[in-house]
Amino acid sequence: MITQVLVLNGPNLGRLGVREPEIYGSVSLEDLAELCRSTGRTLGLSVEVRQTDDERELISWVHEAADARMPVVLNPAAFTHYSYALRDALAMRTAPLVEVHISNPAARESFRHTSVVASVADGTVAGFGLVSYQLALQAIAELAAEDRTGQPGPGLQEPAEPADPAKP
Ligand code: DQA
Repeated sequence: MITQVLVLNGPNLGRLGVREPEIYGSVSLEDLAELCRSTGRTLGLSVEVRQTDDERELISWVHEAADARMPVVLNPAAFTHYSYALRDALAMRTAPLVEVHISNPAARESFRHTSVVASVADGTVAGFGLVSYQLALQAIAELAAEDRTGQPGPGLQEPAEPADPAKP
């Protein structure tokens, strides 16, 4: 069964490739979108990638995802740090949500250390460049499988008990 996933990107991420390449790399948003779509195919996900600089539009996409019970990978960009409106929209979600960042905000300026979104997400992946998106999609595939079957996906299962060296 194919799961539809939205990968949503906030302000200034349309400038990937030219925007502070020493932080965000030299790959364009379209290259990132293609990577997300091809990664999705290997995971049984049909991925649509969108970007906006507009808070209202981003919130309308979050509402759309909630209405359609669609999982979301979200890079809220600077909205991460202050948009309570985005946070409130995400709190209405009806499917898995993974927050993603290209850079590691925790290792940058102090205003980036707060995420108002993190507490309403299933989890956050940050600091691995475009691999952050691939890891986020992998997490979505696991969470979507769990939602469908009621059982954790193979990667989310409890780790097996370590072998007891005292036992033969
Ligand atoms: C970002 C980190 C944010 O602090 C910043 O405002 C961005 C991009 C990232 O992907 O590393 O625009 O979300």
